[in-house]
This record gives sequence, C-alpha cells and structure tokens, in this order.
Amino acid sequence: MTIHIGAKPGDIAETVLMPGDPLRAKWAAETFLTESRLVNEVRGMLGYTGLWRGNRVTIHGSGMGMPSLSIYANELIRDYGAKTLIRIGSCGAMQSHVGLRDIIIAMTATTLSTPSSGIFRELNFAPHADWSLLRAAVAAAEARGVTTHVGGIYSSDVFYDERPDLNEVMTRHGILGVEMEAAELYNLALRHGARALAVLTVSDHLLTGAALPADQRQGSFGDMVEIALHAAFP
Ligand code: HPA
Repeated sequence: MTIHIGAKPGDIAETVLMPGDPLRAKWAAETFLTESRLVNEVRGMLGYTGLWRGNRVTIHGSGMGMPSLSIYANELIRDYGAKTLIRIGSCGAMQSHVGLRDIIIAMTATTLSTPSSGIFRELNFAPHADWSLLRAAVAAAEARGVTTHVGGIYSSDVFYDERPDLNEVMTRHGILGVEMEAAELYNLALRHGARALAVLTVSDHLLTGAALPADQRQGSFGDMVEIALHAAFP
C-alpha cells in the first residue's frame, strides 16, 4: 500500500488505463474487463484490475489536473511497477477541422508549466508519447473507422482560462486540443522508463462553443477505451 493507493503488492497490472474520473474507471472496468475487481478506493479514487482478452489490465482514476495525476502515476510506476500507462479522457478542440466525438492521439503535450517544471528549470523539455503505443493506437483507431487526429495537444493548468490569447497562439501553431493531464504523464513515464500515451475524445470545441450532451459522452468514451486496449496489446 502507498499513501494514496490501497492496492496490495501484485494487485496492479503492468498496463494501466487512466481516466480522469474514477466513475469512468468503474464503468470501463465493468464494460470491458472480465474478472474485474476493485483494488483501490482511497479518497474515492477507484482502481480496478481485470482481464482484457487474457491480458491483465488496471483501470485507475487520475483525478483532474497534473498534480493529481502525478500522485497516482508516481505511485503506480514506482511502487507498483506499472510499465504502460495510457490516459483516456476528454479534451476541448482547438482546430476547426477537429469535430466533437473525434479522437485525438497526443504525440506531444505543450504546457506553460507542469509539476516537473521545478526539475527542468530553464529547460523547455518536450514531453512526448511512446512511439510504439502511438503507432498501435493510430492503427487501432483507423481499423475502427473513427475520425482520428494525431499531433500536439496543450496540457493546461486551468479549466477556467483567463488567457484566451494563449489559446489563439496554440491554435495558430496547430495544437489540436486542450486537456489537463497528459504532459506530466509523459514526463513521468520518460523519467522512469515507462511507456505513456494519451487517447482523448473531443467533448467540447473552443472555437465554436459546441459541447457533447452528457448522454452522448459515454458512447464516444467506449471507442477510446477500446483504442487504448488495442494499443497496449496490439
Ligand atoms: N479545457 C481544459 N480541459 C478540458 C477541456 C477544456 O476546454 N475540455 C475537456 N477537458
């Protein structure tokens, strides 16, 4: 057990899918895994371990924002031996050719800061996805016929952003979408020799203000979970 995860040694699989929302972890585990069982519920941050096509998988919430994700990813990698971590979450689109429900696979994540900024100091480190996971996720998305975009995203520290000019700069530089966790997941995986990827569903559009109705979010979330599982076990 760690400070934030109550799982016993061996309870966590080497492959971990990380949605922001712990209830999404519950839903994904119940929907896609067999023999799934609850392995963590400290602070309501639910984690489940089960099987997907015979492969052991843990689906564990990250919470919202990089500081929260950093706590869980650090403990999963360093204390429980997680080797492959795939964020599954939602994002806001920043390009007109990206639509609601589209999938974004994040090759890199631009930031203003991350919990690792204190380590990197003057270095503008470029957090990037693991190539083998990225390639397998793109192949899985194409095989499913889902509209998919691969490129850079923006991992923001705030949901309620007071700097719309920054979003405009991101859009002008081809950034596909904004979310709040991927960059630090990439930093941590690179630091500790693990593999990481973020597969995101577009839930809202910053340029048009459009947003997916709550009742349609679960359906597009399912595509993302399947793409992540196929990426982990191609
Ligand atoms: N901003 C930050 N994170 C998000 C957004 C957004 O607009 N949409 C979904 N996650």
